[in-house]
Amino acid sequence: MHIDIITCLPRLVESPFNDSIMKRAQKKGLVEVNIIDLRSYATDGHKSVDDYAYGGGAGMVMMIEPIDRCIQDLKSQREYDDIIYMSPDGELFTQSIANQLSLKKNLILLCGHYKGVDERVREHLVTREMSIGDYVLSGGELAAAVISDAVIRLIPGVLSDETSALSDSFQDNLIAPPVYTRPADYKGWKVPDVLLSGHEAKIEQWRLEKATERTQKRRPGMLEKH
Ligand code: ADE
Repeated sequence: MHIDIITCLPRLVESPFNDSIMKRAQKKGLVEVNIIDLRSYATDGHKSVDDYAYGGGAGMVMMIEPIDRCIQDLKSQREYDDIIYMSPDGELFTQSIANQLSLKKNLILLCGHYKGVDERVREHLVTREMSIGDYVLSGGELAAAVISDAVIRLIPGVLSDETSALSDSFQDNLIAPPVYTRPADYKGWKVPDVLLSGHEAKIEQWRLEKATERTQKRRPGMLEKH
């Protein structure tokens, strides 16, 4: 998979890709992540990527020209499955969308900033808009990192134990059951006996019960989809 992230603040996106699973995925050659500084596509001496809004009002708007030049340049190098604009009013990102995106070959994630992008970018250049939740971030950079993380860990071979992505919460519309590790008794707070029993079928049964109980309590709507 190849992911291009277009941003006017590249440093804000970089670090999550230089650690842990996302770093390992790149090292293994399973994903290529390219962070592109939108300013390198600016057309004036000041490297401007934003301007005042027509009609007035507070806040700057990201200009269409550098974004278009950047996207056309990328499109001349490969064919993209989706060009996704990060926006709080986009489609709500879910595990199911992460699964879908993990099957794609080439993606562009476009990060908005200031008051957002010129509406013509949304009308003519992007294929999809995505929000990571009903709250407003300072820009799309952190959202792009979140989406990349959720997608990259699903690419086969990225996690050493592939089944561990399959047993994640939300993957089968059930929240994951509780997990424990040593010690079995800490200050009198005990690990449930069944987990120490070595009885595989009983442990599986207990995990399913706990997952169902937890889902019922925390995300009752999810159980209908299960
Ligand atoms: N940009 C600002 N807020 C955002 C959000 N919640 N999701 C995606 N992009 C954003």
